[in-house]
Formats: sequence, C-alpha cells, structure tokens
Amino acid sequence: MDFVYTAPTKVYFGDKLDLLGEELKKHGKKVLLTYGGGSVKKSGLYGRIVKIIEAAGLELYELSGIAPNPRIESVRAGADICKQKGVDVILAVGGGSTLDASKYMAAGAKVNFDPWLFFSEKAPINDALPVVTVLTLAATGSEMNGGGVITNLETNEKLGRMNDILRPRASFLDPALTYTVSEYQTACGSADILSHIMETYFTVNPDLEMLDGIMESLMRTVIKYAPAAMREPENYEARANLMWASSWAINGFITGGKTHAWSVHPMEHELSAFYDITHGLGLAILTPRWLSYCLDGTTAERCKKFAVNVFGVDKNLPATEAAKAGIEELDKFLFGTLKLGKTLTDAGIDKKHFKEMAKKACGGKSINGFKTLTPQDVENIFNMCL
Ligand code: NZQ
Ligand code: ZN
Repeated sequence: MDFVYTAPTKVYFGDKLDLLGEELKKHGKKVLLTYGGGSVKKSGLYGRIVKIIEAAGLELYELSGIAPNPRIESVRAGADICKQKGVDVILAVGGGSTLDASKYMAAGAKVNFDPWLFFSEKAPINDALPVVTVLTLAATGSEMNGGGVITNLETNEKLGRMNDILRPRASFLDPALTYTVSEYQTACGSADILSHIMETYFTVNPDLEMLDGIMESLMRTVIKYAPAAMREPENYEARANLMWASSWAINGFITGGKTHAWSVHPMEHELSAFYDITHGLGLAILTPRWLSYCLDGTTAERCKKFAVNVFGVDKNLPATEAAKAGIEELDKFLFGTLKLGKTLTDAGIDKKHFKEMAKKACGGKSINGFKTLTPQDVENIFNMCL
C-alpha cells in the first residue's frame, strides 16, 4: 500500500541543551516559554532554560499552568500572547499536554477566530508559528508528530487532530529530564507508548514484516524498561529507551500504508473528557478488554503473533488459545508490573454516561479499526471495564 512519510523534526537527544539558544535564534527573537503546573520549577529546569534564553539575547514571554488534558483556555491565552507580543517561536517545556497546547497556540496565533474551531469545525490549519520542545515525560510522542489533543470542559469534549504544519521544528530529548517523573506517571506514559504501537499493530491489513518486527521490538522495549524506570527512576538506559520508543511509536513511521482507524484512543478520550482521568491509565484499563472483545476467527492469528513475539507465549498453541494467553500477559503487565488500577470503578467512573460517550467515540457512526465497533460495541467494552 502506498504512503507518504515525513518526520522533519530535528532531534537533539541526550545532554544537548547547550544548543537550545542557537536553535531558538533560527526562528526569531521573541520566545514564548510554555510549561505546566510547576514540575519544571521544582526540577530546576525552568531556571536553566531562562538562563539559556537570556544568554542567547532573546526576548522572553511566559505562559504557565497548562494542565494535564490541556484546556482550550490555555490555548486561547497563549495564542493571544503570541498575537499581542508578536512572538516568533514557542518553546514548549514539559509533557504531552504542554506540547499539544503549544502547537494549537502556534496555529491560533495565525488566525482571527477562536482556536476551538480547529476542533469543533475542523477549521483549516494553513500556518503556524514554529514550535521547539524540551520533553520531560516519555509518553505521547507529541515531540515528533503533528498531533494535539485539547479538552473543552464546558462541552465535555476532548478532541484531537493531526497536521504536519504543527510538527515541532526541533525537540530536545534528554532522558535525564525524566528522572523526576513519578512512578505512576512513568507507568501511565509507558501504557500510552504501548497503546500507540498496538493501535497500529492490530490491523486486518496484510502483514508488513519489516514494520511488524519493528513494532514488536518497540513493544518489548517498553515491557523491559518501564519496570526498570519505575524501580530506579535515575536509570538512564531505561529512561532513554522509553523516550526514544515514545517518539517512534507515533511519528508516522510504523504506520506505513495502513489506513485503519485507531480504536482505544477515541474511547479513552471520552473518559478523559467526562472524568479528566490520566490518558495512559484510561488506555490501560480499556486495552485488554478491547482486545478480548475483538478476538474471533478473523483476528486470532494476529493476536497470536503479538502473544508469541511480544510476550513469548508458546508458538505451538492454537491461535485462539495463544491469543488469550497473550491478553492475560498484557493484563499482568499493566495491572501487576505497572501497578495501574484495573477498573473504571477504581477510577471512580460508573456507567452513567456510557451511552453518550460510546456514541461520541464513534463519531456518530462506527470505529472502523481492527474490528468495526458500533456505539453498542463500545458501550459493551466500557461495561467490561467496570
Ligand atoms: O504539569 P507539570 O507540573 O509539569 O506536571 C506534569 C503533569 O502533572 C508531570 N510531569 C511532566 N514531566 C515531569 C512531570 N513530573 C515530574 N517530572 C517531570 N519531568 O506529569 C503530569 C502529566 O503530564 P502530561 O503532559 O499531561 O502527560 P503526558 O505527556 O502523558 O500528556 C498527556 C496528554 O497528551 C495527549 C493526551 O490525550 C493527554 O491530553 N496525547 C497527545 C498525543 C499526541 N500529541 O500525539 C497522542 C496521545 O495519544 C495523547 O492523546
Ligand atoms: Zn495516547
């Protein structure tokens, strides 16, 4: 199947912050520094970045307080600062939430309408300010892709969109900057990376051996290093492997020519929109149930391949049996090794909004993924998670 591939983000991997000033200068003089709720101040990174910007002779503006599941209000505020101050480049320092919000500030700076229209009306994105990132959490892959997911709590909507214009011009990926990520956020981030690969891997399109092998290796990498990073937060090898896996799980490369829709992310975005739960936790709860729900005669071979090549399940087992054993291993990994809560009930979620959430997850129609899911199917999967 034919495809177009582009991943133009320049990556500075490791201890490379000394090159940040030069990188920013390429894009202009006025920098909007964006960050989240304070982890960058606690870790000392904020101070380092400010010094770098000052030493480079750049003009600094700031927007802080970008929340997990970033809100449209932050996007609006950032876009306004960019317009009022004539900002040349946005420097996003943080996790996926800060990066995503910054991308839409960058696009919002170039239009004269409310940036929520990028999501609600699919308003065109024809231009954006350049975005440079310093990543502090391995999870979303936002550092190397054109994606962004924004929440509007007024309408209970969390909507995502991809556009190549929004890909960061450069990303600084220093695994040491993730040493301070908590055990829980490390687990959630790892579940997110795994999910990005699984969303692509589980397909009814014909096998593409090279990409299948790369995806299996990426999944094994997460399974090997997430527990190591949780046990020893300053294990560079573990943090580095997770960080680079995060970027490659969702920068377009492993997709090849596959066209199927993602299934678990749209379901999870409804959980976050209604209950503001952590993205990776929602994915972890949903994924094994979704896979069990999809398992039948048409999908068993693919599930077996995953079970055998990722979790080392016995290849001599019949397909369905091997597939079930693989899902069992996944369950043990997510809820045992990563210590994530296993049910929506644990996360304080009941079935009250399931019908509405299922309908929204299907965009009013169906999710045409590994198995086609109707709103009723999605509601059934939500119910399996209670
Ligand atoms: O806000 P601060 O104080 O910085 O704390 C954050 C936040 O509380 C903290 N954190 C980040 N780096 C840290 C740190 N704490 C200590 N040390 C550090 N080095 O971690 C918490 C979570 O941060 P957040 O940015 O929300 O996490 P994540 O990177 O998982 O981003 C999640 C968001 O990205 C979206 C999700 O839906 C969610 O809104 N996604 C974006 C995608 C994309 N752009 O392609 C794809 C993903 O599938 C996902 O949907
Ligand atoms: Zn995700």
